[in-house]
Amino acid sequence: MDAQTAAFPANIPAHVPPELVWDHAISEYALELEDPYLGAARLHEGPNIIYSTKGFFDQPSWIITRHALIQEAFLDYAHFSSAQNSDATALLGVAWKLNPLEIDPPAHAAYRRILNPWLTPKAVDALSETVRGICRSLIAEFEDHGGCEFISEFASLFPGHIFLTLMGMPRDRLDQFLKWEDAFMHGKDMPTRINAAREILHYLESYIAERRNDPRDDLVSAILAAEIDGRPLNDGEIMGMCYVLYLGGLDTVMSSLGWAMRHLASNLPLQERLARNPEDISLMVDESLRAHGVTATRRVVTEDFEFHGVLFKKGDCVSLPTFLASRDARQYENPHVIDIDRKASHLTFANGPHFCVGMHLARREMRIVLEEFLSRFSNLRVAEGETVVLNTKSVWSVQHLPLVWDKRSPA
Ligand code: HEM
Repeated sequence: MDAQTAAFPANIPAHVPPELVWDHAISEYALELEDPYLGAARLHEGPNIIYSTKGFFDQPSWIITRHALIQEAFLDYAHFSSAQNSDATALLGVAWKLNPLEIDPPAHAAYRRILNPWLTPKAVDALSETVRGICRSLIAEFEDHGGCEFISEFASLFPGHIFLTLMGMPRDRLDQFLKWEDAFMHGKDMPTRINAAREILHYLESYIAERRNDPRDDLVSAILAAEIDGRPLNDGEIMGMCYVLYLGGLDTVMSSLGWAMRHLASNLPLQERLARNPEDISLMVDESLRAHGVTATRRVVTEDFEFHGVLFKKGDCVSLPTFLASRDARQYENPHVIDIDRKASHLTFANGPHFCVGMHLARREMRIVLEEFLSRFSNLRVAEGETVVLNTKSVWSVQHLPLVWDKRSPA
């Protein structure tokens, strides 16, 4: 890691020691190597905490590079506030917060309690057959084609279907919804992305109004019926909760599916082990999640204090990249090796009060997808002469994954 000491960049706060200044964006630095996880892990050769001039989506920010310290920051919500976790609401120009994501404890727990019952392992069991049905119907579109572009034909569509199911939203809006979703996630410029985010917001608003008049057995109706301190949620709280479910559960699942499938496509013996022993697929899901943290989430420092020898000042922005925690050799032996028998815990779903409420659903979605692909197709591989495209701009993802396969004969 070449901490910038010679040409000291302008506008660095006085409390930042020059030897910790790093004048790079991690998104570009990671892509200097073919595998961005290896590219980013070069930061482990340097200090545990650095100050990047472009640390959080091009804004100056501290970056914590080590698994143990990232975990500590996730747990220490008193010093590391989530109140400005995302730029989404600023981009949308709204006054409400994403919730429970941007609510600090102790207020956080009451919001979180509304979502918990809908995303427990038992609730996910009840959703599983629907999830499998959606997975099968998407696969049916290309099952006999000998291959597919895994991201556009499957991984970018699948989580959107599940989101609509969870929220109880009608399928007739699915195509439109997915177009907005695609423009929001992959739009060519910021105005296109913001416009799509607003369309989604308007759609959620009209759907919330519908459910208010006609409550059903779905998550949106449950949010509308919920009370905090004996009062119903106000409009901003309701929208903040619906929007965070949308933001939290789509891109992340698409990305995690992409990394898992990319690894499988490079490892035929692993495919065969999993096809013969489908009960091991859960191990693959978790080890792929361990090795492929996809988010860098933000905290803001609440008061001046020293963290592992570095002075943090009130208001400093701190980035917690789970993709660096994933590959920390102080935490994992041979961190870059995907070994499904290691059964290691990880920070891909974070830790502390904001740990991912959707993690059981996400794991189940991934397990079902791998089960359905591996029971149908063998020798899954990247099509010859084709290139895999990776994206480290926001949520780390595989953007283009052209796969081919042989069809398994029915058992
Ligand atoms: C593999 C897929 C997923 C990954 C990697 C992931 C990752 C994360 C992470 C790292 C956080 C913590 C953010 C922070 O502390 O700043 C989080 C929180 C959250 N996630 Fe997920 N997530 C995934 C899937 C989902 C799904 C499917 C849903 C919805 C059903 C969801 C909903 C949420 C919500 C609502 C929060 C905020 C929880 C809180 O503040 O208490 N996530 N997720």
